[in-house]
Amino acid sequence: MTGTEQEIRESDLVDHVVAAFDETPDPRLKELMRALTRHLHAFVREVRLTEREWQQAIDFLTAVGHLTNDRRQEFILLSDVLGASMQTITVNNQAYGDATEATVVGPFFVEGSPEIPLGGDLAAGAAGQPCWVEGTVTDATGKPVPNARIEVWEADDDGFYDVQYDDDRIAARGHLHTDADGGYRFWAIVPTPYPIPYDGPVGRLLAATGRSPMRASHLHFLAEAPGLRTLVTHIFVRGDELLDRDSVFGVRDSLVKDFAHQTPQTPTPDGRDLDGRPWSRVRFDIVLAPAVTAS
Ligand SMILES: [Fe+2]
Repeated sequence: MTGTEQEIRESDLVDHVVAAFDETPDPRLKELMRALTRHLHAFVREVRLTEREWQQAIDFLTAVGHLTNDRRQEFILLSDVLGASMQTITVNNQAYGDATEATVVGPFFVEGSPEIPLGGDLAAGAAGQPCWVEGTVTDATGKPVPNARIEVWEADDDGFYDVQYDDDRIAARGHLHTDADGGYRFWAIVPTPYPIPYDGPVGRLLAATGRSPMRASHLHFLAEAPGLRTLVTHIFVRGDELLDRDSVFGVRDSLVKDFAHQTPQTPTPDGRDLDGRPWSRVRFDIVLAPAVTAS
């Protein structure tokens, strides 16, 4: 058989499958399925996928599905380690002036976090070095945004979020609102690295490809205000050795911040007594893009 004949057979099949979606009533679904077909076939043809590899892929996806339930989402984890989650976020958060960059939401956001006052402590007993976090929320013209809602959540010093413990604790998460000048401030803890769950098929994929499950240290933020694009992001710790190999590709240079270490002798901004412990401080000024009007 000539190469040409082989190529014709393969490309004819692609055309045939793409055409099978021609009658899809929903135009967006039609576009998605036709493009998915083209890219999937291009992958199979480019790597000359063997039948054994196809079976391994089926077995892998089956294992991902079997592990997934309402508390463990192995498919999202797979999307995350392939960078597909981050790419979707990038596509859907168009660059706009100085607007703060978005990054992955991750699996540990929960509704109904406690409200804390400005200057309050959202650590709520979570282990870790105290960290004073402050900044402003402005729109893309630099105008302060009063009463913006800021939601924050993070892992403790042992690398676990409160929801990963079995005791119903609520710690290292909370929300607050900016003051009349768009300012905010609160106590949290210095973020530390932690691994994504790696005891399943996604973990085995990372091991087989020589990749680490570790995430760079980060503090999650969600900021929202009427008329402005809701921002879901993190800040990262400058100097963290994991910045260039974050397992879910969430790091953006603009989100890497200086967490300035303070000696126990340094007075705290609000006079809080830390019992002789060292602490840190970080500033994060948030710029929100205008909300995109639906077209
Ligand atoms: Fe996280």
